[in-house]
Amino acid sequence: MSFLALLEAKRQGLSLHASQIRAVVASFTQGQIPDYQMAAFLMAIYFRGLNTEETTALTLAMRDSGDALNFPKDPRPLVDKHSTGGVGDKVSLPLAPLLACLGFRVPMISGRGLGITGGTLDKLDSIPGFQTQLPAKRIVSIVQEVGCVICGQTDRMVPADKKLYALRDVTGTVPSIPLIVSSILSKKLAENLDALILDVKFGRAAFMQSQADARKLAKAMVALGNRCGVNTRAMLTDMSTPIGRAAGNWLEVKESLACLEPGTGVAPVSNSKKGEAAATPILLDLRQLVLASAAHLLVQTGKASSFKAAHRQAEDCLNSGAPRRKWDEMLVAQGANLDAFRNKLARDHTLSAVVDLKAHRRGFVSKCDARLLGEVIRDLGGGRLTKESVIHHEVGLDQLAKPGDAVRRGDTLARIHAMDRAQAETARRRIQPAFRITDRPPAHSPLIAEVIAR
Ligand code: URA
Repeated sequence: MSFLALLEAKRQGLSLHASQIRAVVASFTQGQIPDYQMAAFLMAIYFRGLNTEETTALTLAMRDSGDALNFPKDPRPLVDKHSTGGVGDKVSLPLAPLLACLGFRVPMISGRGLGITGGTLDKLDSIPGFQTQLPAKRIVSIVQEVGCVICGQTDRMVPADKKLYALRDVTGTVPSIPLIVSSILSKKLAENLDALILDVKFGRAAFMQSQADARKLAKAMVALGNRCGVNTRAMLTDMSTPIGRAAGNWLEVKESLACLEPGTGVAPVSNSKKGEAAATPILLDLRQLVLASAAHLLVQTGKASSFKAAHRQAEDCLNSGAPRRKWDEMLVAQGANLDAFRNKLARDHTLSAVVDLKAHRRGFVSKCDARLLGEVIRDLGGGRLTKESVIHHEVGLDQLAKPGDAVRRGDTLARIHAMDRAQAETARRRIQPAFRITDRPPAHSPLIAEVIAR
């Protein structure tokens, strides 16, 4: 059957056989299907969808379009986490060493940011000497020796996704659930995982803004992951407010380190004038996501019998300080210069243009809008408007006041790190409406709204 006939069949809403989908993926990856025809095929999928068998076939064909990571037999389960992305989402950084210390192997293949969504690799690029592009052999050997690696996809992994995603990006076909599911899971399946935890975000700064859409995506990914032999669970988490109190690549690395320091879950905010807010745990939401991700993976792999026991195990491990030491081990294995990293960490700020946005009145913070803050960070140079944009790793926001914080007039709501004073002042003006201060604290809304297990 010609590709045109398959394309017409999909346009009519007919189902394709797995062998036909495999042939399409192989031909496209080898350059035998022109982009204009593939673009039409993707649009047909966008409107007609794919059934479960078709989505499974597409995912496996994409996984098989290149090399997978092959690990030796080992009692330590292979696990990973994937987040659909957000503002201040640095969970992967403390999570990888924590999981390694809990007896997992973690081949965390991560991506770069686009738009307001931060990327794990961009954050790591702010660490002096740290290598994110590693050959497959080195990825496997670091995982075997250290227990965790955080790096980019190799050129030979899932090339079909690279080509397909580039085309989807310019043809309006990114927001299709079967295409998203196959894109994300083909890359995770190429890691040869035993278990996967997904953090599917909803809210103003999320890829899927409504909880209902996020649930649809999460259910599809959980079903397909399990169908493909990877124990998969998803958390639906709120992305209306940035995670933690820092957003911006280097500032998030600093905060991740703080999360790994034993006892920081209950440390006071650094703004000594914050009155009642001084008792607010600075990293509660970040720790909550890190610990919940680890706890689910412990249950999914049978290393804990209940979520409660798993959570305690993860918390004890984080509090032991071992994951903090494991972080250094991972950095050294990936080429980082530890002395330069420590010197950089010791500096309060690395840019000279640092200004504060202050509270104009006393009250409670009831809004800290992740979308607006993400847009401002992107425009300061912390994110990409296009794939070619150059990142300034040190720009961003920290000391963020979060919903529920009590503030007095003159307290810091955010500290802006910019490349120059004019950009800092523009950012200060723009982020003002991201915050709202009210007489009463806002109603509590849970960070982890739902868990979707198989
Ligand atoms: N992230 C991916 O890797 N693929 C998609 O299709 C969407 C988000």
